[in-house]
Amino acid sequence: MAEIRLRVNGAGEALDVDPRVSLLDALRERLGLTGPKKGCDQGACGACTVLADGVRINSCLALAVQYADREITTIEGIEHPLQEAFVKHDGFQCGYCTSGQICSAIGMLAEHKDGTPSAVTDDEDEPEALSEEEIRERMSGNLCRCGAYNGIVEAIAEVAG
Ligand code: FES
Ligand code: FES
Repeated sequence: MAEIRLRVNGAGEALDVDPRVSLLDALRERLGLTGPKKGCDQGACGACTVLADGVRINSCLALAVQYADREITTIEGIEHPLQEAFVKHDGFQCGYCTSGQICSAIGMLAEHKDGTPSAVTDDEDEPEALSEEEIRERMSGNLCRCGAYNGIVEAIAEVAG
């Protein structure tokens, strides 16, 4: 077992964890934060997305011990215009993917602002505003089984301005 301190949504929590425990399981089962969802548990769906020091990560692929003393943010700790925009644009149906979509979108908007290129642009032609194609590409790691993609893209585009 390893003694670690997880900092989540501004609060610190000391935990005794098996070094093999994923960050997702530690958040859900030890801290009771069930916003991050377990979809595939293998990095393919994005339902488990959280922010680590503002960067989006798949928490199912991260070990809790790796993220000791990093600043983790889950949907429970987020107040962001994207949340209202998702409601306004019907960016969800069952809601299973939604916390991951919103965490991922927050990380994605920060990446775009920092000039991180995507597969559909390069540094030279990075657009001022995010196009629909660009949003879809940058959000392609977050799947929605309900197919609410049009609303998700509209919500993100509105907030991206
Ligand atoms: Fe982590 Fe699917 S549960 S990517
Ligand atoms: Fe159901 Fe996305 S809203 S999986």
